[in-house]
Amino acid sequence: MIGRLAPPWDRLLLDARLATLRDDLGAYGVVEAGALAWKDGLLAYAGPANELPGDAAGLATRVESAEGRWITPGLVDCHTHLVFAGDRAREFERRLQGASYEQIAREGGGILSSVRATRAADEDSLLAVSLPRARSLCADGVTTLEIKSGYGLDFENERKMLRVARRIGEALGISVRCTYLAAHALPAEFAGRADDYIDAVIGWLPRLHEEGLVDAVDAFCEGIGFSPAQTRRVFEAARGLGLPVKLHADQLSDLGGAALTASFGGLSADHIEWTNTDAVRAMAAAGTVAVLLPGAFHVLRETRLPPLDALREHAVPMAVATDLNPGTSPLQSLRLAMSLACTHFRLTPEEALRGATVHAAAALGLHDRGRLAAGQRADFVQWRIGHPAELAYWLGGDLVHSVHVAGRRLG
Ligand code: NIG
Ligand code: FE
Repeated sequence: MIGRLAPPWDRLLLDARLATLRDDLGAYGVVEAGALAWKDGLLAYAGPANELPGDAAGLATRVESAEGRWITPGLVDCHTHLVFAGDRAREFERRLQGASYEQIAREGGGILSSVRATRAADEDSLLAVSLPRARSLCADGVTTLEIKSGYGLDFENERKMLRVARRIGEALGISVRCTYLAAHALPAEFAGRADDYIDAVIGWLPRLHEEGLVDAVDAFCEGIGFSPAQTRRVFEAARGLGLPVKLHADQLSDLGGAALTASFGGLSADHIEWTNTDAVRAMAAAGTVAVLLPGAFHVLRETRLPPLDALREHAVPMAVATDLNPGTSPLQSLRLAMSLACTHFRLTPEEALRGATVHAAAALGLHDRGRLAAGQRADFVQWRIGHPAELAYWLGGDLVHSVHVAGRRLG
């Protein structure tokens, strides 16, 4: 690697302030008076300018100044449902008048109303309505994105969603990880036959995987979703294909979803408001990341907090994601999710930034990104800020100066 990344580099940025998020460098892994270089899409140098191996002018094909701007790793949104048609603004109105999320779901609204709209859309129109949501995440610094299926709930429509997710990655020039979430809700045609539906979900998976459409498998383990036993069957099918698992776990009640995920060595347990301390220990032992989703917590006006003290005590990495979806989290900015994680969950702005970079990457099983260090992908953002805490401080705002993905400037 060092040989391959030896100078001459493609580009060297001087006069940069780096929030590397490396653990050995203190808060935010800050390097003031830093330099950042890359070659062939990978970072070749991320450190103090005065420790560069030679005269700057001779090190790279192009040498430029970052004019003192802060640079962080590209943000990673590790949990979204941004491919869907329609919206649920009317349900938002109803919830504000007192109806609960569960009540609306049991009446056939909620996820199933997005299923009806998504089934009715053809692939191109689904892409056309979903792309702007992905664009808005990218405009705020996201360079890697996870997108789930789960509003199709039959073979063709799950496939259509996953194909749209892949096409979004191609259209925007970013990395998109596709997650199969057919076990999201029970479609009307399987009413009263949840186990049969799980058989169907398991049956569709190998074909979708063969088409290169699946990077991980998820389920909604909840009273209004699927039972732990049904979830386990989906996980076993995933394991049989060598696919990693993750879970919508313990969001509205403690069904033991996070512990189940850990027992499969899962990538992440997400939401986890009701997860107990034993399950947190199991996550720590399994290396399962805790994905905090403060957008859904905020929109549903929840009060039960994830077990933050236990997560910290057992050193479970905490990621932060938007959960961008039409029902519980119509949240189109990962920075705003970071802000909500600070205000609702009392994360520090540094924890929120680690949660939206290095820990989010780990939640996707990606260890080649999320920090600024030689050998990592050259995914990084230059910001118009005076301190990295501002990334979680501003609610909205246009803070991005520029975004690079694998060394290429976006947009
Ligand atoms: O992460 N809880 C299940 N899935 C989504 C909500 C999806 C929806 O309501 O459309 C979530 O909150
Ligand atoms: Fe979700």
